[in-house]
Amino acid sequence: MQHQHFLTIDSKSCIKCGLCIKDCVINNLHMGKDSAVAIKNTCLACGHCVAICPQNAVSLSDFEDSPLPVLPSSAFTGSDLVQLIRQRRSIRQFQNRKVPQELLKQLLTAGQYTPTASNSQNVSYLVIRENIASYEQPALSTLRRLKRIQSIFSHSWDNFSIDEHFLFKKAPLVMIIKSPDLVNASLAAASIELTANAFGLGVLYSGFFSLALKHSRKLQKKLLLSSRNEAVLALAVGYPAVKYKRTAQKEHPVVSYD
Ligand SMILES: Cc1cc2nc3c(=O)[nH]c(=O)nc-3n(C[C@H](O)[C@H](O)[C@H](O)COP(=O)(O)O)c2cc1C
Repeated sequence: MQHQHFLTIDSKSCIKCGLCIKDCVINNLHMGKDSAVAIKNTCLACGHCVAICPQNAVSLSDFEDSPLPVLPSSAFTGSDLVQLIRQRRSIRQFQNRKVPQELLKQLLTAGQYTPTASNSQNVSYLVIRENIASYEQPALSTLRRLKRIQSIFSHSWDNFSIDEHFLFKKAPLVMIIKSPDLVNASLAAASIELTANAFGLGVLYSGFFSLALKHSRKLQKKLLLSSRNEAVLALAVGYPAVKYKRTAQKEHPVVSYD
């Protein structure tokens, strides 16, 4: 969390229903004489109390956005979402067409609203549009070096020919997602990928870029990594230059019940 957010309860509006107290994950609220009261006015700032209050009596300071009204779940169909997940594919051929700023904003919003552990919101983004080669080229050099070393021990890399666009496939936009927490970064990436698909964009997770980054001081410096353990995911984003006519087949999930 970059900023402190202060919790305020308007005692005149509060009807003492206790909903906020029951829903507070860190037990930071109790019932006072006239209204619910915060024990500390700084907390996780998760906003459950703001969201649940029937009187709109609770507020958190210092956010740029305001809460939106929640739509009924019937406004979205679950089966549409599952179909979208089934038909999303890794895109390795992109059109020579820019990602509109408005769609980029939607992708960033999808990342922003994805949950983070302890509401830490410690995910940051680097959007690369102008100078993709300055990231791709050093990563390619590192990968080629790794391939030469690996090839001595195994043939698993033999199928890859590392051409000039091996990592980002000439996508018009690359989004680097950074976080000290791999789960937070990965969840944000998954939200962004699905959202991109819902807007007709396609995405490639460039796992090879993350691999190169682990072995390149130069890239680590360029990406201003705060530690070598920082999780970095790279998404190539753009309009697909391919159309798929049917969904993927996947193996049956291994599920057990108890
Ligand atoms: C974390 C992660 C890293 C990946 N890295 C690469 C990559 O570097 N290059 C690539 O061509 N595909 C990459 N992929 C794509 C996978 O190969 C792909 O998801 C898988 O083959 C299934 O195909 P689909 O995504 O089209 O359904 C990556 C996928 C994930 C989830």
